[in-house]
Amino acid sequence: MTKKIEKIKIGLLGAGWIGQHHGNNIIKNQYAELTAIADTDKTKMQNFQKKTGSSASIYEDYQVMLKRDDIDAVVIATPNFLHSEQAIASADAGKHIYLEKPMAINLEDSRKIAKKIQKAGVMSAMGYHRRFNPLVQYAKQLQDQGKLGEMVMVESDYIHHIPADWDIWEWAGQKNTGGHPIHGGGGHNIDLLRYFCGEVEEVSCYKDIRMPRKIQIDTEDIAIINLLFKNKTVGRVAVFLGPIIPFTFTLRLFGTKGTVDNNRVWLDSIPLFYEPGHEDDCILLPHSWIPDNVQGGVSETWSKCMDTFIDDIRLDRKPFNDVISGFNTASICSAAVESAIENKIVKPESL
Ligand SMILES: NC(=O)c1ccc[n+]([C@@H]2O[C@H](COP(=O)([O-])OP(=O)(O)OC[C@H]3O[C@@H](n4cnc5c(N)ncnc54)[C@H](O)[C@@H]3O)[C@@H](O)[C@H]2O)c1
Repeated sequence: MTKKIEKIKIGLLGAGWIGQHHGNNIIKNQYAELTAIADTDKTKMQNFQKKTGSSASIYEDYQVMLKRDDIDAVVIATPNFLHSEQAIASADAGKHIYLEKPMAINLEDSRKIAKKIQKAGVMSAMGYHRRFNPLVQYAKQLQDQGKLGEMVMVESDYIHHIPADWDIWEWAGQKNTGGHPIHGGGGHNIDLLRYFCGEVEEVSCYKDIRMPRKIQIDTEDIAIINLLFKNKTVGRVAVFLGPIIPFTFTLRLFGTKGTVDNNRVWLDSIPLFYEPGHEDDCILLPHSWIPDNVQGGVSETWSKCMDTFIDDIRLDRKPFNDVISGFNTASICSAAVESAIENKIVKPESL
């Protein structure tokens, strides 16, 4: 007789743009059940139910949903300023937590979340889905096999037009509701560079507000962040919201034995790669592997990130990239903000 597979019962907080993608990915996972949805906008939840045929219970007050003992885990996909309150309440209720980035709108709240999750002993995952991108996984394999050698210099850019008339500006553009784009957008890049290079010793940053928009951002829309990793790798992240270009996410890793330049890879074993006429003698990965999928609709990497969270709970594994790791990304982002404001080099560990 086949053993009955236990399903992880999940409650979704926030049925907005990304919440609906997460809801769909939970429904598709054979080991999970979308048991409940909480959103202050009832129509959004009802529309999602109609679209998907989901019979998840709906709640306008997430606190009522958290009282259900049969819910094992929650996915928090609400505006940034709510993450802290909702993650802490979820950990208090003993739920495992998938938390969308940024962790919170300031480092103090991020620290409170990390401490609470650690104390509650619940499983957690950060929504840094780009770690699951095929290019990133390919590069990680090369690194683990020693084919890139020692990492020397790494770069990653987050360049996102975000049209000025999108609803998201109502909360995303302001410090007290959206936090800093250095964390909201650049956190993705910093998380990825940490995946390859480990933790960061020092940060310096220049930031400004340059692009015109109806509801003006009060933090920054352009930032150049320099990183010195503990392993002596130097790094650079650019965050730019609003330029006239489709969403662009780049990744360049320079090691002593090999280079990953987005979807082109050079290794020292490729003959004459440095000679004129041999510029294309590289390993050419599919262009679609470049992690630029924010505007491309449902992303495979979101579902892989969710599937991994579900498997981490089900199989009681060490979490792949938990909220405690997310706190290190949050500290680096806060160090960048402080560096730009104070015009000095900042050590994330000092914050
Ligand atoms: N990982 C990624 O690539 C990625 C991409 C986009 C957004 N995000 C993150 O996901 C979060 C949501 O972003 P979005 O673009 O889906 O925003 P959104 O505005 O489309 O959705 C937010 C939803 O939260 C609901 N909400 C507001 N207050 C609530 C409350 N008190 N309780 C329950 N629900 C409430 C809103 O009604 C809305 O449906 C943000 O933190 C954002 O940074 C992550």
